[in-house]
Amino acid sequence: MKDKLNNLRNKFLQELSEVKDINYLRSIELKYLSRKGELSEMLHELKDLGDDLRQEAGIMANRIKKELQEKFLEAEKLLNEDKVQATSSPDVTLPGEKSFHGHLNPITLVQNELEDLFTSLGFSVIDGPELESDYYNFTALNVPPSHPARDMQDTFYVDSKNKEGQFDLLMRTQTSSVQIRAMQKYGAPLKAVIPGRCFRNEATDARHEHTFYQVEGLVIDKDINFSNLKSFLEIVGQRLFGPNTKMRMRPKFFPFVEPGNNAEYTCFLCRGKGCRVCKYTGWLEIVGAGLVHPEVLRAGGIDPDVYSGLAFGFGLNRLAMLKYNINDVRLFNSNDLKFLEQF
Ligand code: DAH
Repeated sequence: MKDKLNNLRNKFLQELSEVKDINYLRSIELKYLSRKGELSEMLHELKDLGDDLRQEAGIMANRIKKELQEKFLEAEKLLNEDKVQATSSPDVTLPGEKSFHGHLNPITLVQNELEDLFTSLGFSVIDGPELESDYYNFTALNVPPSHPARDMQDTFYVDSKNKEGQFDLLMRTQTSSVQIRAMQKYGAPLKAVIPGRCFRNEATDARHEHTFYQVEGLVIDKDINFSNLKSFLEIVGQRLFGPNTKMRMRPKFFPFVEPGNNAEYTCFLCRGKGCRVCKYTGWLEIVGAGLVHPEVLRAGGIDPDVYSGLAFGFGLNRLAMLKYNINDVRLFNSNDLKFLEQF
């Protein structure tokens, strides 16, 4: 009996020394010290011994019981202290937890940059709907019904006809649609940029995408003329690509401006010498612009005999592709983390 008691004691102490968490401690309590535990069972067995032995073993059993209970309480206390220490003083030498940061899409980065540039020049930034009426996207912008831009090939029309049986809702093909909305809402004078998403029914390839971004700009005031447009576009180019940037304007037809032009800037990479980025021309075509057509001012509720205006439009995808050397426009909408995480 004495041997059995000693074995039990040793086993208990051994297991107790291995305690690392409260669950293990509880399992030891259950196994040895509970009412049906091994120690109670042994105490129970004492009654079968002869008087002499029972007395001697009884004394020993009680001593061991007391010892084990004390040791158990000690271990429990230690474990609790460890826990308090662990929560109150973190181990500053442990490596930190890695936190995941999202990435701004390169289009957003370029959009932010343009917004900063234009707000610093006194422009407000405004918004317009992506689902647009035929009127705002085309008619009010002096695009006659026969104009090829209205062709079903280029525009995503929404499958709902108006009372006259015409499809008059579409996904806007250009942020220019917000020109009219801005004029109607804010009147003249007006200085605003409109960044936003546009859609065209394009067959996609490395340079064409059905969903893309533009930033539109509109300045309306008294006596806005072509010299204003030229110097303004020069300043924009220098702010975008550096102070030595030169600009050239080439005539281009846009129905909502007269005259209309493209502004091209000396290539920021080769500084005009000719390289792969500018296709060895030395120039980058960046922005469409012009003086607002009187019909467009009229549609916006502004008297063209009193006010005139200039308008311009950037393709954000193209700007981002140039800036970050991206060779496929489809990457912007690809959701490919290998692409996005580089920015
Ligand atoms: N909306 C034109 C496009 O999508 C870009 C543009 C050209 C905007 C000339 C303008 C402008 O405001 O004056 O191609």
